Amino acid sequence: MVLRDLIVERARKNGPLTFVEYMELALYHPELGYYTRASQRSGRAGDFFTSVDVGTLFGQLLAVQFEEMWSLVNQSAKEEPRFDIVEAGAGNGRLSRDVLSAASLVPSFYDSIRLHLVERSINARSEQPAVLGTHIDKLVYSNDELPHAIRGVIFANELLDAFPVHRVTMTADGLREIRVDADGDRLVERLQPVQTPTLLKYLDKLEVTLPINSSAEINLLALDWVQTAANQLHEGFIVLIDYGHDALQLYGSAQRHGTLAAYRQHVQAPSRALWLNEPGDWDLTSHVDLTSLTRCAEHCGLLCLGSLDQTYFLLGLGSANILSSQPDNSLDELKQRLAAKTLFMPGGLGSTHKVLVFAKGVGSPALRGCSHGTRLT
Ligand SMILES: C[S@@+](CC[C@H](N)C(=O)[O-])C[C@H]1O[C@@H](n2cnc3c(N)ncnc32)[C@H](O)[C@@H]1O
Repeated sequence: MVLRDLIVERARKNGPLTFVEYMELALYHPELGYYTRASQRSGRAGDFFTSVDVGTLFGQLLAVQFEEMWSLVNQSAKEEPRFDIVEAGAGNGRLSRDVLSAASLVPSFYDSIRLHLVERSINARSEQPAVLGTHIDKLVYSNDELPHAIRGVIFANELLDAFPVHRVTMTADGLREIRVDADGDRLVERLQPVQTPTLLKYLDKLEVTLPINSSAEINLLALDWVQTAANQLHEGFIVLIDYGHDALQLYGSAQRHGTLAAYRQHVQAPSRALWLNEPGDWDLTSHVDLTSLTRCAEHCGLLCLGSLDQTYFLLGLGSANILSSQPDNSLDELKQRLAAKTLFMPGGLGSTHKVLVFAKGVGSPALRGCSHGTRLT
């Protein structure tokens, strides 16, 4: 069955779907969802690029940060040395493999690592053993939910932007929710009164009133996820890397049409009517509200250690040394320089991507990655 027909049928039977319901089916339907059907969606042959596609450097730099975190968690360890590395939205495990390869250069750190890969796509999970290769013994858990009693670090690269979101729009008559309805055998947007009170509370808490004719996304699932992560983290850190803005920017006039976008083969869909009617064929993504995320994390007992552009996070981890070191003109060295530029030069991934770092039960350490303080552009 075509996913659109299934959604049309559901709308006819139950009335218009919330956008969260539509996006959940489009991306994660158990057989037909965009992420379900493939083991990897990013890269040259895919639909979008992430920092992982740039090469192994991103994982190497994260390993620098995780080693420092390991030394801090280990200080207070009364039991056997153990450092949980939990990657959420891990896909086929490429980024964790790069982290482990770098970590293996420090045997005491590497020996203590227990790797947990959290990923919804069964296809992607099935590839993890082959991708991890010689690091497979480190993998103690591969599932679609966060594990319990974590002592170490939970991290995610471009996870929260792939969560299903609600959509709202401000009309002259007040706030309306954008739902997805059937019109014949086509899917169309339908404005309806907001029936989810949490959406109104969300904007109220931020003291945000959307300008008339503007629309926006609200990612309630991201807050649920942070709450779960904070509960499952016994002691250690959470590192979230994603594109996002503080709430004033995200819900201000600069983003008056919202940030929801659909991509296929690296091209953004020209019209909403097109991707709305091809669920399962497009990557759907929206930018993250860093303000609400940070407030929620703090409410759950996490301490925010840093909120910064990826550029500054990676500079703190020594990425600039790669550019300033004496060139040996080898191909590998050239590739490494290009990767560093792509990852941290302002204007590219370094500016669009933000890094939030939280701590629990380890005091308020000055981490290398946060040495540039709060630096959001
Ligand atoms: C944009 S991709 C990023 C993949 C990888 N982290 C990277 O940077 O290349 C988002 C991934 O998160 C997964 N995902 C979405 N929601 C999830 C959830 N609640 N728990 C675990 N994985 C999830 C998707 O299946 C997909 O593999």
